Amino acid sequence: MSNDIFGVIKKDLALLETELLASMVSPVELITEIGTHLVKSGGKRLRPALYLLSARSGPVFDAKRVMPLAAALELIHMASLVHDDVIDHADMRRGTLTANAKWGNQVSILSGDYIFAKAFSLVAGNSYDSRITTRLSELVCDLSSGEIIQNRGIYVAARDIEAYYGRIAKKTANFLAVCCEMGAIVSEMDEDTMHRLYTYGYSIGMAFQITDDLLDITSSKKKIGKPAGNDILQGIVTLPVIRALETSPDKQELEAIITNRGMTEEMLQRALEIVKESDGITFAQGRADSFLETARKSLPGTLPEKIRQAYCKAADFIGHRDF
Ligand code: IPE
Ligand code: IPE
Ligand code: MG
Ligand code: MG
Repeated sequence: MSNDIFGVIKKDLALLETELLASMVSPVELITEIGTHLVKSGGKRLRPALYLLSARSGPVFDAKRVMPLAAALELIHMASLVHDDVIDHADMRRGTLTANAKWGNQVSILSGDYIFAKAFSLVAGNSYDSRITTRLSELVCDLSSGEIIQNRGIYVAARDIEAYYGRIAKKTANFLAVCCEMGAIVSEMDEDTMHRLYTYGYSIGMAFQITDDLLDITSSKKKIGKPAGNDILQGIVTLPVIRALETSPDKQELEAIITNRGMTEEMLQRALEIVKESDGITFAQGRADSFLETARKSLPGTLPEKIRQAYCKAADFIGHRDF
């Protein structure tokens, strides 16, 4: 992803990899081993990339201040995924084994904690604007709140689209928004540009989680590098399913399956079939497209042209992504 879309910050992204690997070196060998596994397994690096694009747009660029925060953002994301994979009983991520599949749940929870703390230690020594540490802490609180709200609602045939939007805003959109906003803070952009970038990040974040939820239903483990069909299996009711519960001729059968904690593989396949035959997929795709439209309209006209193009390409990618 990064080469096509984020070519303009290629050097920064290469430096980021070095910083990430260095941050995972610990006197405790197992921590280094797990951290290295996580960093080397890759990922789209979307959050630091969004941040770096805006950090490169303002009047000020100080690499010593900018780069540790880029690493901190990816580490926070990584830690949240390590915990998320324990919660979701996922055995694969980024096309390789998850930490929980390799080292078990206990070590994974502790490693996630370690990585969260490491993220904050990277920025602690730097004299950032106080907005940075506030936003970083708030985003972790929001992300955790989103995951908790989601967890409280598992195996419930929810039909409330606003509640779905509320929780994906907390767990995903807000993170992407803050990445864009932080770049604007460190590069000392004006308030209006900063707010526009925040809205851009928030809107692509909403679309990003909707497309992630779509791919969970329509794609395969091989393509997305993580379990497919796992949301329904874990009782997580996402937008295409919410829609199918309203409009499918088989909505009662769907409801019976998704509220069943003892769901078999056969039941899961039937639920996926019902959702795919309904208008849930096109409905969710339409919602994602409209968030992307908002994102494109929010982009400030004052951005350097190459950066504006990269942000546009990121929005296009999210609209058509298949991983
Ligand atoms: C996965 O995020 C979690 C969601 C918010 C959907 P990404 O799809 O950005 O994960 P990586 O970093 O590329 O693996
Ligand atoms: C995003 O949701 C997880 C976090 C924000 C931590 P998902 O549970 O859908 O992410 P994946 O599909 O496991 O990557
Ligand atoms: Mg998950
Ligand atoms: Mg998912």
